[in-house]
Amino acid sequence: ISAVSGGVDSTVATTLVHRAIGDQLRAVFVDTGLLRLGEADMVEHVMKQQLGIPLARVNASDDFFSALRGVTEPEEKRRIVGAQFISSFEKEAARSGKPEFLVQGTIYPDVVESSAPDRSQAQRIKSHHNVGGLPKDMQFKLVEPLRYLFKDEVRRIGEALGIPANLLWRQPFPGPGLAVRCLGEVTPERVLRLQQADFIFTTELENAGLLNRKPQSGEVRLAQAFAALLPVRSVGVMGDQRTYDETIALRAVTSDDFMTADWAQLPHELLGRIANRIVNEVHGVNRVVYDITSKPPATIEWE
Ligand code: XMP
Repeated sequence: ISAVSGGVDSTVATTLVHRAIGDQLRAVFVDTGLLRLGEADMVEHVMKQQLGIPLARVNASDDFFSALRGVTEPEEKRRIVGAQFISSFEKEAARSGKPEFLVQGTIYPDVVESSAPDRSQAQRIKSHHNVGGLPKDMQFKLVEPLRYLFKDEVRRIGEALGIPANLLWRQPFPGPGLAVRCLGEVTPERVLRLQQADFIFTTELENAGLLNRKPQSGEVRLAQAFAALLPVRSVGVMGDQRTYDETIALRAVTSDDFMTADWAQLPHELLGRIANRIVNEVHGVNRVVYDITSKPPATIEWE
């Protein structure tokens, strides 16, 4: 059995194992409702149509939203999403007979990070729950074909396996998903608002050639770019109506290792167009701000 998240590592690991054992593999994809706009359908399409891997898609968004109701504290959100993920995955696994092996897309930096002495719990700034992490009390033998590889090597394998470039070069996405980008309470309505704003931002960046593609050598490119929805309402004016709506913060950074990051100096004209589109196209948002803090002292994510 394999847990597919839509990210590079789990897709490459799952594809490799599928090539080896074919339809003895059961690939499970938990749709948390906290993915980016259109992402769940994209993952399903790539796996089934482009890679020919049968995929069991579990639509668990109602469970995730109920579990998150009323919760605003970031670490609490992480804990809930992690626990809910395991419970949804276990339910699906129980339907698959008794699989003996679990495929994980662990890569070398994950191994180093979890065993390095300087990454003790006490010093951790955020608990990085990797959705797709091992259900603790499940009796699986682990299959980790990427355990000794770095990201660029994983991508090379992905290319050789015919995984589409738009997936291989996608920016990283945190395990807890949009729960930690929707500041304040995580409701379906607010997540949709966030997804729409994020889609406009990232699509404009992609069209400008700045995101989600294989970099040319020596090129500076964005390591991550996304929208966050703030639990702050401010006064605006739309036509001759007063509005009192929420705020979108745009975050775009350059970074080599994600331990430090610089805010990206995006062209003002591009930022202006994006802000205009967001306030005009996304219901419930009347203000857009651009985050010009580097890491440290800020972190890349807002929560
Ligand atoms: P920060 O916000 O700590 O993020 O500067 C550094 C990198 O880690 C990602 N991130 C996470 N990834 N689970 C994950 O799998 C998490 O809980 C989590 N929190 C942050 C973040 O997107 C960035 O790439």
